[in-house]
Amino acid sequence: MTRRVENNLFPAHRADELMRRAIGLTEGTMPHPNPRVGAIVLTPDGEVVSERAHIGAGSVHAEAAALADAGSAAKGSTVVVTLEPCAHHGRTPPCAEAIIEAGVARVIIGTLDPDPRVSGEGIALLENAGIEVITGVEESAVLANDPAYFHHRSTGLPFVTLKTALTLDGQAAAADHTSRWISGPEAREDGHRLRAESDAVMVGAGTVISDNPRLDVRIDGYEGRQPRPVIVAGRRPIPEDAALLARDPIIFTSGSDQPGLGDVEQVTAPGPNGVDLGAAIEYLGEEGVVALLIEGGPTIAGAALRAGLVDRIIFHFGAKLGLGTGLPAITGTFETIKDAQAVTIEQVTTVGTDIRVEMTIEREM
Ligand SMILES: NC(=O)c1ccc[n+]([C@@H]2O[C@H](COP(=O)([O-])OP(=O)(O)OC[C@H]3O[C@@H](n4cnc5c(N)ncnc54)[C@H](OP(=O)(O)O)[C@@H]3O)[C@@H](O)[C@H]2O)c1
Repeated sequence: MTRRVENNLFPAHRADELMRRAIGLTEGTMPHPNPRVGAIVLTPDGEVVSERAHIGAGSVHAEAAALADAGSAAKGSTVVVTLEPCAHHGRTPPCAEAIIEAGVARVIIGTLDPDPRVSGEGIALLENAGIEVITGVEESAVLANDPAYFHHRSTGLPFVTLKTALTLDGQAAAADHTSRWISGPEAREDGHRLRAESDAVMVGAGTVISDNPRLDVRIDGYEGRQPRPVIVAGRRPIPEDAALLARDPIIFTSGSDQPGLGDVEQVTAPGPNGVDLGAAIEYLGEEGVVALLIEGGPTIAGAALRAGLVDRIIFHFGAKLGLGTGLPAITGTFETIKDAQAVTIEQVTTVGTDIRVEMTIEREM
């Protein structure tokens, strides 16, 4: 499918540059469950007429918005768009049709849309209408701009990130269950950014009971969407005054609903050891959770990792030593070396006084 454009107006470097500009338009957008998409309309001689990003489900798509802004200047234009234009009627009409109706001459696309309702159909519509289509421009940068979307549309599952703060000697909390704060303010701000990039944030009952977290994004000036909290409930009751109950959580239980929690959504997902985390995560994927952040604690972390449900891990190593055994970052028994989970270390950086290690896990699908 990948073809490159090489003519006077669009030498490869110009197409690459425009695609990077289109990606840049999506900065700060969080349209999940829809993808992050940027689009630019150019005159036949290569001048930018209009450019737009998609801001969220139900609102006009990037290329349709940019074409509307361009008006009659869209005739004979080139559209640069990060993702294959859609071919189906959703809450908005198909963008491929809007492009055809506007009289666009050429469309330059970053990558195909893996959504089964599009997946090549958008390109077929454009080509059948006689429009020149070039795909695969800056494809890896487009994929990297919204990895959770591509994962969700190809698997039906959220892209799952596990984030844990731990001491340099591997403890996630002290023996008395205190853990505030293992990491410093900069690492905690990084944690808030991870929440802002997520559609939902999951913790287990143990964390709700020990820490009473809010799991919301608290960054100065942040006005974006807040991720939905997800509680994995166990045998112990969730406290009726838990702060998360005021934030419209989804509570997964392994049996009947927990009483006294008002009309919050409770979903039964029974498994052999409490909640079936795989079923819970599948449910979240069906509900349109594209990016899920698991923020602990060590019991949920261990269960999710052992069940092969985690795609990415972010460890914040606080500049501290526990000097003994409190709560490990991951609960469970490391029986033998063959059981060790291999990871790919993607990035090691310092955040303030702490170390941030980002790892990915190759999952078997
Ligand atoms: N350093 C960090 O980044 C970090 C992050 C979060 C929490 N923490 C610390 O972690 C401690 C809490 O640890 P935790 O391990 O108890 O918290 P957790 O992992 O958040 O909660 C575990 C609880 O979830 C329930 N559960 C239901 N189904 C389960 C399943 N399939 N797998 C696992 N758990 C399931 C069980 O509750 P029942 O026992 O009621 O059956 C289980 O004990 C606190 O000290 C907190 O401060 C640290």
